[in-house]
Amino acid sequence: MLVNGRELFQAAKKGGYAVGAFNLNNMEIMQAIIEAAEEEKSPVFLQASQGGIKYAGIEYIVAMARAAAEKVSVPVALNLDHGTSFNQVVQCVRHGFSAVMIDGSQLPFEENIAITQKVVEIAHPSGVSVEAELGKIGGVEDDIVVDARDATFTDPKEAAEFAERTNVDALAIAIGTAHGVYKGEPKLDFKRLEEIAAATDVPLVLHGASGISDEQIRQAIPHGITKINIDTDLRIAFSQAIKDLLAEKPGEIDPRKILGPARDAMKEVARAKMRLFGSAGRA
Ligand code: G3H
Ligand code: ZN
Repeated sequence: MLVNGRELFQAAKKGGYAVGAFNLNNMEIMQAIIEAAEEEKSPVFLQASQGGIKYAGIEYIVAMARAAAEKVSVPVALNLDHGTSFNQVVQCVRHGFSAVMIDGSQLPFEENIAITQKVVEIAHPSGVSVEAELGKIGGVEDDIVVDARDATFTDPKEAAEFAERTNVDALAIAIGTAHGVYKGEPKLDFKRLEEIAAATDVPLVLHGASGISDEQIRQAIPHGITKINIDTDLRIAFSQAIKDLLAEKPGEIDPRKILGPARDAMKEVARAKMRLFGSAGRA
């Protein structure tokens, strides 16, 4: 059974580790993540963006996630990643997601609060956790594009007020990460992270975590980061494995022989992240 995302946030906060949240849009990616979680004895968030849902179909995503959760002994939550509309959230709650993110970060502060409150109102009674976003994370995540010049870091005082007024289960913050592949070496604003963690008890979420050094990830977790989102690093492992396979065997036409090694490569990436985030062995 899929578990309420709140359980994972709370356990991670108490245990001082972060749970990996991995984006998926097909069966092989789902299997890679779920097998990694089972082998590492790690809780895990499976997550689908609006683009992922459009690509695979919401019924397939939910059915696969339920099947995956039944098969393993570790707690698994299914999260909507970067939902930008109330209707999208409602659709996911109705179909059986156990966690949702409402990303109102493009809206003015009061409007972000208002839409998040509305989502909390419908999600919590259904046993579904809510993650919101404050501050603007740069880069490209599917159909959400934030130019580096428009990215803004999270204000600690606003974060405290936002968490208090919305009663969200987790808050995604902007402290220097971006979605997609980094051009230069990203540097996290640890002073800001410390100030946010001092101002509010709400579990914090780090987006855009692919390509961030292990050292910075390790440093961020003790300051209340309880969920870490990874998409790009899985995409890179997936596509590189397929390129390598087809370079070596250009005549291969069996999808299983092309996608199988890609699944193995993604699984290794997910396992390494679970160990790095400290969630391995916590289930
Ligand atoms: O919401 C998804 C993540 O924030 C993806 O970040 O592009 O660094 O993997 P990433
Ligand atoms: Zn994100």
